[in-house]
Amino acid sequence: MHKTDLFIPFASNEKLAASLASALGASVGDLSYRRFPDEESYVRYSGDVKGKNIAIVCTLDRPDTKFLPLCFLSSLLKERGAKKVGLIAPYLAYMRQDKAFQEGEALSSHYFAKLLSQHVDWLVTVDPHLHRIQSLEEIYSIPTQVLHASSLISEWVRKNVQKPLLIGPDEESGQWVSSVAKEAGAPFTVLKKVRKGDRHVEVSIPHIEEHKDKQIVLIDDIASSGHTMLETIKHLRTAKLHAPICIVVHPVFAGTAYEDLKKAGAKRVLSCNTIEHVSNGLDIAPMLVKATLR
Ligand code: R5P
Repeated sequence: MHKTDLFIPFASNEKLAASLASALGASVGDLSYRRFPDEESYVRYSGDVKGKNIAIVCTLDRPDTKFLPLCFLSSLLKERGAKKVGLIAPYLAYMRQDKAFQEGEALSSHYFAKLLSQHVDWLVTVDPHLHRIQSLEEIYSIPTQVLHASSLISEWVRKNVQKPLLIGPDEESGQWVSSVAKEAGAPFTVLKKVRKGDRHVEVSIPHIEEHKDKQIVLIDDIASSGHTMLETIKHLRTAKLHAPICIVVHPVFAGTAYEDLKKAGAKRVLSCNTIEHVSNGLDIAPMLVKATLR
């Protein structure tokens, strides 16, 4: 990331932009944007941007309505003389469709990366869902920086949980749960998940009854429909284990997913503020500040 002169928050990212700007002695830009009655986007930025390094702060959950105005904003800033326009997107969208699972399916993660690379000069994000794609460089043609929330999560677990057993609900969560477990000095296991549809998953938990004395902590990068965690909670409850704590890096929580998790018996649902949500309890701002200074 370049030394940033100006942070411009976009779509409810004001708090994060303000923390970054105040820690780094930069300014916060005041953007006007809205949707016309016909749902086209209006974007206006009238402040001075000439020769400035600018970071747009915009997390990319619900990306379809944000993406086009974001492109308008970056084009506008460049047209008005900005030196560089980067994007801090704590949650990076469209990382999961990284393969055509059925013939004719769009490879959205690649297409999205190509489009975004055409509009901003650099990208900083937190724990993107890298699975079949090993590194963002494979699909992004701009400089990218990836930060990890594992230390934040492991520190919370160390301070708040007695006798934890960390569980990753599927093979893909293995990378997150294993690094948290290593840093927290806690045991972990990764379950097998079969996804049968957007909201239909099955998980299996072998020998789970052996862990009756443990506080289970479910860890995943994203909770979207919540069904991966819901299914896991159901199994744990059937096996009469303690109510689990659920921790996610990115609280996407579509529809009633968050309420459903609480109803299903989660003792606590905790998330990083990569997306603003009532479950936020782990602050990524200091990590972004450090990354910027480095
Ligand atoms: C996928 O493998 C991810 O790591 C998450 O497990 C998944 O995105 C969660 O989605 P949902 O909440 O819809 O089950």
